[in-house]
Order: sequence, then C-alpha cells, then structure tokens
Amino acid sequence: MSISRLLRSKPKPRIAESPPVDILELKKDPYYIVASVEVGNSTTKCILTATNMKNGQTRIVNKTVKMTRDVRKPRPGEEVFAHTLCGTPLTRESVSELVRDTLLESHATARLSIKDDLNFVVRSTGVVAGFSSPDEVGTFIQALADGCLIAGVPPRLMTPAMSIQNIPDRFRPYSLMEKIVFNGPVASVFPPKGSTGVEIVANEMEGELATAGIKEGSKWTDVDFRNPCLSLDFGTTLDGRITSAEMPYSNTIGNFCGLAGAIPDALIQGTGLVDPQTGTTLDLFSGKKVKVDRTARDYARVIDEHIRIERVPVGRSRYGSVPVDPAAAEKIGVVLIGCDVGENGSELNRLSQLGRKIHQEKGLKTLFAAIDVAAAITARRLVKVAVDAGLVTRDTAIGVTGRAGISGNKPELILEEIGTLGLYDQPEKNIVFVDDGLARGAAVMARCMNSMGTPRHPMGGLRGGGCILRQRIEYEART
Ligand SMILES: Nc1ncnc2c1ncn2[C@@H]1O[C@H](COP(=O)(O)OP(=O)(O)OP(=O)(O)O)[C@@H](O)[C@H]1O
Ligand SMILES: [Mg+2]
Repeated sequence: MSISRLLRSKPKPRIAESPPVDILELKKDPYYIVASVEVGNSTTKCILTATNMKNGQTRIVNKTVKMTRDVRKPRPGEEVFAHTLCGTPLTRESVSELVRDTLLESHATARLSIKDDLNFVVRSTGVVAGFSSPDEVGTFIQALADGCLIAGVPPRLMTPAMSIQNIPDRFRPYSLMEKIVFNGPVASVFPPKGSTGVEIVANEMEGELATAGIKEGSKWTDVDFRNPCLSLDFGTTLDGRITSAEMPYSNTIGNFCGLAGAIPDALIQGTGLVDPQTGTTLDLFSGKKVKVDRTARDYARVIDEHIRIERVPVGRSRYGSVPVDPAAAEKIGVVLIGCDVGENGSELNRLSQLGRKIHQEKGLKTLFAAIDVAAAITARRLVKVAVDAGLVTRDTAIGVTGRAGISGNKPELILEEIGTLGLYDQPEKNIVFVDDGLARGAAVMARCMNSMGTPRHPMGGLRGGGCILRQRIEYEART
C-alpha cells in the first residue's frame, strides 16, 4: 500500500441528520404534518414529521416508540390474526388500542392536535411472518386504520384527496393536482409492474416507504439518491428495493426480504441478559460505539457462516419468514433477494448458542462489535447478489436505514465492506445512511398522494438530472 493511501484518513459515512423542529417554528411556515404509524416486530412507532412546503425539507417533530411485545394480551372472544416474529399474539382490537395510545402520546408530547394540526396518516407494518400469502398484509393495514379512527383521526386524512377542494387552503399553492394526478409511483418509482407489489413479497410497502424516505433523507447530505438506487431497511426483518434508471418513472426491479435485526437479536438472546424469547439487541444497546478489533472480526466471520443470502429460489412460499411468491415475481421481472438463517429462521437457536459463547469468552462489547461487522458483511453480500444479477452498477446509489443497519459502527463498516466490491471510486459519495427512513417515506408518500411537490428541490428523476415535472406532464398526456 502506498504511503499516501495509508495517510489518507478513512472516508466518513454520510449520515442524514435533520435539525429538530419546535412548535413555534411550525406555525411560521407552511409545514405539512404527517404521522407515520408503524407496527413492527420489535417496536411500534408513531413518528410525526413536518415538511416545509417552501423548500421540501422534512424534519422530525416527535418520535414515540413502544415495544410491540408489551401489547395487551388477547381477550377471550378476540381472534388472534397475527404474531410477531418472536411469537407475540396480536388481535385486531389489541393492535388498534396500541396504535391509538401511541398516536395520542405522540401528539400530546409534541403539543399538536390530531384534529387541527395533523394533515395525513400513513400506516405500515413489518409483522407479516404469520401470513400464508403476501397480500394478507392488507388486513393488518385495516386494523391499523381502526386504531387511527379511535384516536380521533378523520378518515379523510388516510386517503388521497380527490380534488384540490379537499386540500387545506394554506397548502393549495403547493399542490400540482390540476397538472398531475397521483397514478402510483411514489418518488417516481412504480411498484412491481402489474401489481401493487404485495402479491410478490409481503413487505413491499415497507420497501417502498424506505426507498422514498432515503431519497428525502439523502437531501441533507451530498449523496444523490435518485434513480437508479438500492435501498435496504434493516428492521427486525429486511425489506428494500432496487430501482431502474428510467424517465420519468423508474420501475422496481428487485426486492429484499427475510431476516435482519432478528439475527443480532438471536445472538443477544443467548447471553442470558435478556428474555430468551422476546429480548432484543435494543434492550442492551447503550447507543455508544464499541471498538472493533481482530477478535470481533473473527467472530463476525463465524456468525456469517450461518447466514444465507441468495436469490429466493422458485418454490418457496416464505423466505426468512416473509411470505413471498417468487414465481409471480419472475413473471413480472422482479428479482427477490433474501436473507435467512437455516430455513425461515430454523437455525437461529444456533446463533443464540454462538452469542452465549462470544459473551462468555470476550464479553458484551466484543459481541456488539461482532454484530456490527456481521451486519456489514450481510449488506455487502446482499449488494453482491444484486450486482451479479445485473441489477446494480456503478451508477446505482445505495441507501441504508433501520436500527439493525445504522446503529453503532455499522455505517463505517458497511462503507468498508461495500467498498471491497470495487463498484465505486468514492463509496462515501454513493452510499447514504438515513435514520427513520420509513417515516420520512411516509411524509413523501402523503405528499405524492396529494400531488404536492417542490420542483426546485426534486426528489424524482435520475441521479444528476433535473426536475421531471415537464416529462411527467407529457407522460400523462400520452397515457
Ligand atoms: N445496536 C444494534 N445492533 C443491531 N441491531 C439492533 C441494534 N439496536 C437495535 N437493533 C435491532 O433492530 C431491530 C429493530 O429495528 P426497528 O425498530 O427498525 O424494527 P421493527 O420496525 O420493529 O421491525 P420490522 O419493521 O422488521 O417489523 C430489532 O431487531 C433490534 O434488536
Ligand atoms: Mg419497521
């Protein structure tokens, strides 16, 4: 290695950070307020965002996070319609109460009124493991609507406005509804063609939101995350998309699915420091970075040997516990890429044993460091499968969100690992890390549904290109 290379400092990962916004500021400018209600396998969240319609920037107003496992138990007579990945039973009623409480708490803390201040609600869930086919996720989204309604959300805040009259006065100047209508693509990406996407993979909507959210979050950095791009959302489960380079709208050409945070959770469950069934990495994470040494890297390689990453083989109805339909995906030209441990997590218990061993031999810090390295190797392998399938080139931007992908040392390590693929001259200018990607995506989706945009700060279109409003108008005149 040359001296100059040795002396060059390590590239800094680009992590999107937006300044918080307070209530006084919210009254000054036209801020569009969206609640993202997410029931995940580990956490249930209500994240309130405010988008300044003058410049299109989205900031976080409040984030209320509860553990999904603390949901109340099913009452006699209620039907258990879903289970989280670690087995917590959910009924339509218990989910809606959890959603109601989270929404109310979030607004109370932010001192905002659901009735007067909120402009839109987007609901999503990662709890899909128990469904027998990908599209059953729709039932869950309806249960989330119950929760919003009993919290006092007006129903019109959950569906796209049909005419400009339904948009509040102060936002009308920012709606382009008279020029363009919402026809499916969020942040200029079509869902998998010929479907809404959920027919092929149950968490396609999460992938859609995460992709849009990373597009928005990247605006706070120098990474251009327009199309073509690849997004990875490391929640308890994995979701994400790969998009093509087309104008004015790109297509979804790949989807990610399977296990993500469930992998570190299994390792941590083995330590005996958390509940062996429902404990999570989050329960022990201090928020501080730990030192990554040789030993941690060696352990990470052993962890990695248990992790399967591949194109989802035809014939599987579930991959990494996520319902999939690989035959339907193949028909519409979408490549499914999955992450699993054994088959549908069947060997997660082996990871728990390994977690126990690492903890006993070297302690918790080394285990956390090994988890960070293992996550980075996973990210690199997922990208490699996409490259080998011809879906990703040096023109593709990569974006990562979700706690199991951006906490601790993961951004630095992911940059280093993906760097080894040799795709980019400057990986740090092509890979972006975004906190709360899904909630930011909800803010984008809400605006797309109401044809609201800021042409001077475009999010749609291609990397390096300009605003695509004119092409969109021409496209719609043709179709
Ligand atoms: N420091 C960390 N290292 C690795 N994983 C972590 C860390 N902190 C949290 N996690 C994991 O991230 C996951 C939680 O992330 P998140 O809240 O985004 O998921 P979720 O929305 O509940 O899941 P999903 O959307 O897949 O249903 C858990 O599996 C959690 O243990
Ligand atoms: Mg989630």
